[in-house]
Amino acid sequence: MVKGFARSGRLPIVVALDPPISVDPVKWCLRIIDDTLDIVSGYKIGLPLILDLDRKRDLEKIVGKMEGVWLRIADLKLADIGDIMVSIIRRLHGFGFNAFIVHGFIGYNGALDRVSDYLNSIDAKLITVISMSHSGSSEIIDHVLDRLLEVALKASSWGIIAPATRPEIIREIRSRVGDRVKILSPGIGVQGARPSTAIKAGADYEIIGRLVTRSEDPRKTLLEIRDLYR
Ligand code: XMP
Repeated sequence: MVKGFARSGRLPIVVALDPPISVDPVKWCLRIIDDTLDIVSGYKIGLPLILDLDRKRDLEKIVGKMEGVWLRIADLKLADIGDIMVSIIRRLHGFGFNAFIVHGFIGYNGALDRVSDYLNSIDAKLITVISMSHSGSSEIIDHVLDRLLEVALKASSWGIIAPATRPEIIREIRSRVGDRVKILSPGIGVQGARPSTAIKAGADYEIIGRLVTRSEDPRKTLLEIRDLYR
């Protein structure tokens, strides 16, 4: 049985809410959240949805609908100077997000240190990208994986992002960090990895988008995935 699953009764899945072009983004999100709220661990929202919204209040409505779910992640993959990232996070936090994805390659001083302090002060979670799910991650980012992990830990990250598409990286990180940090893994489904690959390699959560959200029946798809975790 997957860790945490038995305890919470929820799947260790964060659903990525990236709407297709030409749907009503608000209705699309609310329908998926309504259908899946009681069985997932969280949702992740990024630029595809935010750019589709006509009114900022719609973002509040969507994130508000996630009440009760553990992770409400804003995925803007921030990579800026500390003060600017804090000003972005301050705004996003106002919409109800409680976790924020930031790139690790920006370093600690003047960047992740500021974000980390601010998130601590509002009791929200820092999630740091240290490796990505696409193959280009091995061109540059993965060469400095050790350094990125060091920086992520120094910044007291609650979680790090590592790819389901390269489970050996998840295994390696888990063996180094033990239970000190959560591992969240995208790359399932359309990007190639089978659901449960990351969890079996030691991740805490799988981030899954299109495999679930573009299926006829997202709840049914999630329940089918559940069988792979057993
Ligand atoms: P799909 O539809 O491919 O969506 O399941 C995946 C979601 O995860 C995001 N993504 C990443 N986020 N580091 C990240 O922080 C990554 O390496 C990565 N790969 C995919 C993607 O934006 C989408 O929302």
